[in-house]
Amino acid sequence: MIVIGGSASMDLAKELAVVLNCTFIPATTTSFPDGECYTRIEVDSLDDDVVIVQNTFPDTKIIETFLLQDAAKKLGAKSITLVIPYFGYARQDRVFKAGEPESANIMCRHLDMCCDRVITIDIHKEATLDNFTCAHKDLKAAPVIADFFKDKGVDIILSPDIGAAGRAECVGKCMGLPHDHLNKTRLSGTEVRIQPAEADVNGKKVLIVDDMIATGGTIIAATAALKEAGATEVYVACTHGLFINNALERFNGSPIDSVVCCNTLNTPVSRISVAELVAEAIKDAYAGKW
Ligand code: R5P
Repeated sequence: MIVIGGSASMDLAKELAVVLNCTFIPATTTSFPDGECYTRIEVDSLDDDVVIVQNTFPDTKIIETFLLQDAAKKLGAKSITLVIPYFGYARQDRVFKAGEPESANIMCRHLDMCCDRVITIDIHKEATLDNFTCAHKDLKAAPVIADFFKDKGVDIILSPDIGAAGRAECVGKCMGLPHDHLNKTRLSGTEVRIQPAEADVNGKKVLIVDDMIATGGTIIAATAALKEAGATEVYVACTHGLFINNALERFNGSPIDSVVCCNTLNTPVSRISVAELVAEAIKDAYAGKW
């Protein structure tokens, strides 16, 4: 097996190759003078099963993913497993207002053209993957998040909204702790209103889990509501740390006690590795388990 690292996911690809004990080939990616993407897998042939690891975020990396799939196929890859740690456009999974596209669906249909299997991690809605015709699996980061927090004295796990309640339940079950969800109303792209949980958080250390942090508006509001309700400490963990508009810096002056995320995206707080999780799924796939 050969693991190829796309420029958006090089470090995770390298780590995955170490865990799988197989060859790692970094793709060489640059731009043409007009800004178009140039990428190359610098070998003469790939006579093996190939795993391409590449986020489809930001937009330029989507093109690189298409090109890497084609390059791997032309080099003779026996099979192509596409690992997309962070799947861009997953949140626009339906038409919210007439005239909008179903972006997540379109992404799947195009990525589907040149691969045998797709692996994602905590994709925003798992049903999005049904748009792939090839085999697909969404891995849950809950067990590795739970493991990271096992010795940190957390009392309760909360999700910032009902949509992520299953995630909080999963982390709670892994840690043997209670779980609940907050109630979120989105006011704008950057503003949300959070209403308190039913669970009593007074005097407790709370861990908020979410699939992603983008502007940070959700978790800042959630933390403020929890501190207002008497929580002594609020830790935050997410799978995908986008941290746009300097969100990480803004957390410094907020009531959040700590923030950590998985290494699906490279950030200064990507302390939770999903490499073992992905490796197990790949081994299972090639053992015919899915
Ligand atoms: C929304 O449904 C997601 O699970 C996240 O809660 C959301 O995308 C976070 O966005 P932000 O950090 O901008 O509030």
